[in-house]
Amino acid sequence: MREQLRELQEKALARIQAAGLLEELNELKLQYTGKKGELTQILRNMGGLSAEERPVMGQLANEVRDKLEEAFANMAEKLQEQAYQIQLKRETLDITLPGRQRPLGSRHPLYQAMDEIEEIFISMGFGVEEGYEVETDYYNFEAMNLPKNHPARDMQDTFYISEDILLRTHTSPTQTRVMEKMCPRLPVKVIIPGKVYRRDDDATHSPMFHQVEGLVIDEHIRFSDLKGILLSFIKRFFGEDQEIRLRPSYFPFTEPSAEVDCRCVICGGKGCRTCKGTGWLEILGSGMVHPNVLRMGGYDPAKVSGFAFGMGVERLAMLKYGVDDLRLFFENDVRFLRQF
Ligand code: DAH
Repeated sequence: MREQLRELQEKALARIQAAGLLEELNELKLQYTGKKGELTQILRNMGGLSAEERPVMGQLANEVRDKLEEAFANMAEKLQEQAYQIQLKRETLDITLPGRQRPLGSRHPLYQAMDEIEEIFISMGFGVEEGYEVETDYYNFEAMNLPKNHPARDMQDTFYISEDILLRTHTSPTQTRVMEKMCPRLPVKVIIPGKVYRRDDDATHSPMFHQVEGLVIDEHIRFSDLKGILLSFIKRFFGEDQEIRLRPSYFPFTEPSAEVDCRCVICGGKGCRTCKGTGWLEILGSGMVHPNVLRMGGYDPAKVSGFAFGMGVERLAMLKYGVDDLRLFFENDVRFLRQF
């Protein structure tokens, strides 16, 4: 029996050392020291031993069991550690690898200009309204004091959808929509940014472009209020040293009307090609809201007065960013757009 135990111990230890996987080790454990394992098998024959030999063999068997169990435990730890190292290696990240760069877009320069215009007017207490790009003849022309057959309708080459429905040629029709919504509340103090459409296409005209309309109505609104607001705006948009000049003009929806110029932002007023030598640039149209327009919006021109203005966003953006061809804004060439 002594021999049997020694043999079992040797064989088991050798196989434990050779085990490469935890599962394999567990099987060996069952095979040698399990309830039905080989060690138990040998001890079954204890009955055939003498009374003196029995405790000696018992002790020897316990020693063998202890040795094997220790070997199992050591090997299990080793295999566990090995498995852990393999997993670590598999999950290792190289945090020094450069990341994948995704190209990032940015706001279109026209909308940057528009945002800035809005911000300036909002800071002066204006609300922002949006109208419809598809308008009726009534709002686009009639309510703007341009009755059918009015010669001023020739100023605008219109995209008609039907006889009565068209793409708005300016943001002015939204003036009347805002008045109808607000009336009789005062004051009305809004800007109206948006797209407008005209049948025009060259270096300085696009069939679709952007305007920002302004409308202020209250009791005692005067022409000087218009001038003050526009001067503040121009200084904020182009710089504190800017000046404006008002020239008499004509729009059917205002009376009196004025075109507003600012100092040429290219030459500073000395005279250049952009300002055609005058030192001034025309930047917007404006005037006191015509009594007919107030009336069609629901307000009584005997009690309230107002001013309005309309500016082209493309033109303002071209002057501010020094862009000399309007079409660059719409070609979406990223080499152009990346510069803003
Ligand atoms: N609607 C005009 C245009 O598109 C611009 C304009 C001029 C708007 C005078 C106004 C204004 O509100 O008072 O050319």
